[in-house]
Amino acid sequence: MQTQVAANIFWVGCVDWGVRDFHGYKTERGSTYNAYLILAQKNALIDTVKASRAADLLANVRAHLPLEQIDYIICNHAEPDHAGALPETVKACPNAAVVCNAKCQDALARHFDTTAWKWHIVKDTETLSLGNKTLQCFDTPMVHWPESMVTYLQEDAVLFSMDAFGQHYASSARFDDEADLSEVMQEAKTYYANIVLPYGRPVATALGRLGALKLAIVAPSHGVIWRSHFNAILAAYQSWATCTPAKKIVILFCSMWDSTRRMARAIEVGATHPGIEVKVIDVATTSDTVIVTDIMDCAAFAAGSPTLNSGIMPRMAATLTYLRGLKPKGKSCLAFGSYGWAPKNIGELTHYLAEMEATPVCDPISCRFAPGPDTLEACRAAGGALAAVARSTPSPTA
Ligand code: FEO
Repeated sequence: MQTQVAANIFWVGCVDWGVRDFHGYKTERGSTYNAYLILAQKNALIDTVKASRAADLLANVRAHLPLEQIDYIICNHAEPDHAGALPETVKACPNAAVVCNAKCQDALARHFDTTAWKWHIVKDTETLSLGNKTLQCFDTPMVHWPESMVTYLQEDAVLFSMDAFGQHYASSARFDDEADLSEVMQEAKTYYANIVLPYGRPVATALGRLGALKLAIVAPSHGVIWRSHFNAILAAYQSWATCTPAKKIVILFCSMWDSTRRMARAIEVGATHPGIEVKVIDVATTSDTVIVTDIMDCAAFAAGSPTLNSGIMPRMAATLTYLRGLKPKGKSCLAFGSYGWAPKNIGELTHYLAEMEATPVCDPISCRFAPGPDTLEACRAAGGALAAVARSTPSPTA
């Protein structure tokens, strides 16, 4: 496995081939926890890995130098997938100071017993000399936690970008040009939708600041390192940060006895027009990880559930709870579904959609038991209204 990132810079992280659930995010292609070693007059380790993989990290570092020769451990982010191995690493590197910002120091102290740690606290844009190399730290709050920062190696133009530009993607490839780029971009999109989506404004701010840097290599904390296709992921981030809609409609539904599914099908028929992508998703058989990734770049979506026990079906409630938390911006919407004797579903669906600040394209559509011709016609018309929204979105520039 290629682990040299640039002259005297090495990947020392670990590949987690088996992880399939990352605090609820379904990581179907596994993940990596990237850490990097910079060999200079002062040696620096950039980030660690999750706690259970500390031994792998330390073995990878030891392959380059004795742990006593580590001078700095940079902690860009306190989340345990990167800082979990920090206590064991600090213990194993007796001469190292932990470099982080004040918010990160506080977060680490609330996770671990840090009383014996040596610290070097940095402020936004502050530099740290490694003798013949210079690190510069930039605060990137809420990308992904409040204490998040990125670290830039000035002489080599390498940005250690932490979660930004990452992907949950296990691979023997360490670089973007060694992997299947379409897979990498899909995983980067999934990552953004499930982790970064609520923080579009901080992301845009960070992109604006970091865009001024000369960048030869962008090395995130997950997935492949960008050295050949950074412009592709940067353009994608600029689009995702503003939740730029595609000419795309997503119809989410769940069904008990086929009535709500038939309504979804009628909406699909009404929405289907040339040049518009329509996706129909049964939430009972699709993970929320996939669903939010599709919702992120749609222009409009519909959510349908029958009434169950005075509410909606639990899988739809879970999906809408997940979407409400991630809050994809600027979406148009439609609520629909059938009921038996208590039309409770529509009120609950519309409540979720309102909390997502989605804009209804028309009144909700409901029917008692099976949909008749009038209901199906109303569904087709509502599908047409969704299509009109999608049609009116600007075409992407080439
Ligand atoms: Fe990969 Fe926010 O940690």
